[in-house]
Amino acid sequence: MIDQLKKSPLIPVLRKLPEESFLSIAGALIDGGVKYLEITMDAEEAPRLIRLAKQHFGEQASIGAGTVMSVEQAREAIEAGAEYLISPALVDEVLLYAVEQGIPMIPGVYTPSEMAHAYSLGAVGVKLFPAASLGSGFVKDVRGPLGHIPIIVTGGITETTARDYLDAGAIGVGAGSALLDKDLIAKQDWSGLTELTKSWIARLN
Ligand code: 3PG
Repeated sequence: MIDQLKKSPLIPVLRKLPEESFLSIAGALIDGGVKYLEITMDAEEAPRLIRLAKQHFGEQASIGAGTVMSVEQAREAIEAGAEYLISPALVDEVLLYAVEQGIPMIPGVYTPSEMAHAYSLGAVGVKLFPAASLGSGFVKDVRGPLGHIPIIVTGGITETTARDYLDAGAIGVGAGSALLDKDLIAKQDWSGLTELTKSWIARLN
C-alpha cells in the first residue's frame, strides 16, 4: 500500500454521501484517476458501500474503510472486504486487531510520540490529522527524526495546498470536502467531479 501511494498519493474520503449517488460519485473519482477510495464507517450503510465499491471498482482501485474507531467497526469493514483501515485517532486495540488480521492500518496521530507509538504497534503509516492546523512545516520537521514513518496528511487539505505536504515529505494526501465538492454532487455533475479529480492529480504528480 505504501509503495503504491508513492505513485498515486490521493485518497478521497467518502463520508456520508447521498447513497443513491454513491456509485456515480465513486465512478467519477475513478474516471479522474484515483487508485484509492476511503469509505468512512460513521454511517450505517458503510459496509454495504464497501461491498458495492469492491464489486464495481475493485479492479481499478483499492477500497478501504475510514473513521474506524472500534474493533467492531474494524471487523465489519474487513468482513465487507476493506483492504486497509484508516482512522482519525489512534485506538490501540483497533490497531492491534488490524495487525492481527493482517490488514494494513493507518491510525490518526497529531504528535511525534503518537507517531512513534502507532508505528511500534504495527501501523504501516500514520494519518496526520487534522493536518492543516499543523501545516506542511510540521511534516518537514518531523520527517527529520521520524523519516522512517510514512505520513498521510488529512483534514483541511485543498487542491492548492496538497502539493506542499508531498514536497515536505508526506507520501499521501486524504481529501474530503475540498474534493467531494458539495455543489457538484448536488448538481450531479459527475464530469465536473472527474475534471476536479484530474486537476488534483495533475498537481500531485
Ligand atoms: C477525514 O476524515 O480525514 C476528514 O474528514 C477529511 O477532512 P476534509 O474534509 O477537511 O478533507
